[in-house]
Amino acid sequence: DGARPLAGRKAVVTSGPTYEPIDPVRYIANRSSGRQGHAIASALAALGADVTLVSGPVSIPDPMGVHVVHVERAEEMRDAVLCALPADIAVMVAAVADWRVASAADQKIKKHPGESIPTLALTENPDILKTVGHHTQRPKLVIGFAAETQDVEANAKAKLERKGADMIIANDVSPATGIMGGTRNSVKLIRHDGVEQWPDLEKDEVAARLATVIAEQFKPE
Ligand code: C5P
Repeated sequence: DGARPLAGRKAVVTSGPTYEPIDPVRYIANRSSGRQGHAIASALAALGADVTLVSGPVSIPDPMGVHVVHVERAEEMRDAVLCALPADIAVMVAAVADWRVASAADQKIKKHPGESIPTLALTENPDILKTVGHHTQRPKLVIGFAAETQDVEANAKAKLERKGADMIIANDVSPATGIMGGTRNSVKLIRHDGVEQWPDLEKDEVAARLATVIAEQFKPE
């Protein structure tokens, strides 16, 4: 029906940061709040989609009306996303850590006076968007985000190809914009056939607009 154009469609959305353990009490993380990803999950649910939100650790509440899977590490996030397939729509919004500590310590790393300072050896994390974009159960619509501080459009276009995505929402996260961790967002929607600059909007307005764009892709012929 008109008000619920995504009824019967399944969506999986990632949101928030990941926490990559160093030892049982320490981790590597980032400044993602989860606001944009959570807003997208809500907006898709509002249009009738059956939404699974895979969220890293955030301080905002679970949105109503969506299934929420809480994870910490990138590998857990990947596993939860793959568990949610098959799906019609994937929107990967999480700020997934590019690297994790190669071998996290089982016990708290102790400071011993006079001993050398530890160094952290890192290893690459799975790229969840790229995995989904090239998966045998690839959703019909795969959407990613691109947080950039320079050459926003060129980097996002390269990302579309590399990740096997249909659309990339690109935003400038230079500290002066206040976007990372803030409530507003100014984005470009990048598709294979064109670029749209959206006005400066609240993150839930960006989400509502994106949900409308998504619903257009599922309109009956
Ligand atoms: O390559 P980059 O991190 O800039 O790509 C950002 C996009 O890829 C976002 O949609 C993000 O959620 C996704 N991503 C991911 N897994 C990673 C890294 C990024 O799903 N390990």
